[in-house]
Amino acid sequence: MNLKGRSFLKLLDYTPEEIRYLLDLSKGFKDKKKNNIEHTYLKGKNIVLLFEKTSTRTRCAFEVAGRDLGMGVTYLDPGSSQMGKKESIADTAKVLGRMYDGIEYRGFAQRNVEILSQNAGVPVWNGLTTEFHPTQMLADLMTIEEHFGYLKGLNLVFCGDGRNNVANSLMVACAKMGVNFTLASPKELRPDPDLIEICENLASGNKTHISFTDDIMLATQNADVIYTDVWVSMGEPDEVWKERINLLQKYQVNSKVMANAKDNAIFLHCLPSFHNLETTIGQDIYKKFGLKEMEVTDEVFLSSKSKVFDEAENRMHTIKAVMYATMCDKDE
Ligand code: CP
Ligand code: NVA
Repeated sequence: MNLKGRSFLKLLDYTPEEIRYLLDLSKGFKDKKKNNIEHTYLKGKNIVLLFEKTSTRTRCAFEVAGRDLGMGVTYLDPGSSQMGKKESIADTAKVLGRMYDGIEYRGFAQRNVEILSQNAGVPVWNGLTTEFHPTQMLADLMTIEEHFGYLKGLNLVFCGDGRNNVANSLMVACAKMGVNFTLASPKELRPDPDLIEICENLASGNKTHISFTDDIMLATQNADVIYTDVWVSMGEPDEVWKERINLLQKYQVNSKVMANAKDNAIFLHCLPSFHNLETTIGQDIYKKFGLKEMEVTDEVFLSSKSKVFDEAENRMHTIKAVMYATMCDKDE
């Protein structure tokens, strides 16, 4: 498998074999990290992390992974580059490509990360766009496989905003890797029909299914993995909270929903999560709408079924695999 020079913009661009290779590479890197085995394979290279939205996990995962691989890392925060305001995305890509060996981008339209990749001349990695969050998926698949020992034939249910970046990407990840995907959401919040059609074709090739229902108990009754995400994503206006709460309150992952799933089912969330009142936005929503918890209850979030911090850690191992695979010759 040689992925050198490739960008990582969305999972649809990668074959199941390539995704499998990245997952196996991630496991190897995790072992090395746990055993303190040095892996500075990309010494002398430099990467830049371009963020137009905030981040904890993705930024830190890229920074630590980059340093562990021996690279220099530059972070550009949402306010500090010329991109978009004084300089086009294409010009920015051409400049950064002259200085760096790889570029991470977190921002708005998927089109932006595509333009960066077309113009940079070096690999570009999507650290989240409005449409997709592909590096998150590798960590999710790795966490699921660590827990169950396999992926094929498992049932994953996503509860909530079914047309956000995480739900879209999960549907693709499951379709590619032979996991049955069920979306429990109101009809108004389902993915783009074109994306559904692509995923249905991929899933039928794997003899798995993609299903949609507005009934969370029906959706979760045979679930191995229950996944949720915030009800309002970065970049959406505050005005949508009221409508979203009305639509999504009945899709909250609570102990009744977890008890409805298989006995050994796990809970995942890309994070950050509103499961208590210990955030300013959580406080604000409580004052306006009286909700103490949103997409997941504190009880489920803190339960032994919840693997969210393994999942967060795996962001780093999987991002390391993506950078290594796309920057290093296979036999290097
Ligand atoms: N899951 C995730 O992408 O987290 P951050 O927004 O903190 O990067
Ligand atoms: N759907 C969320 C994911 C955050 C990691 C957002 O885009 O804000």
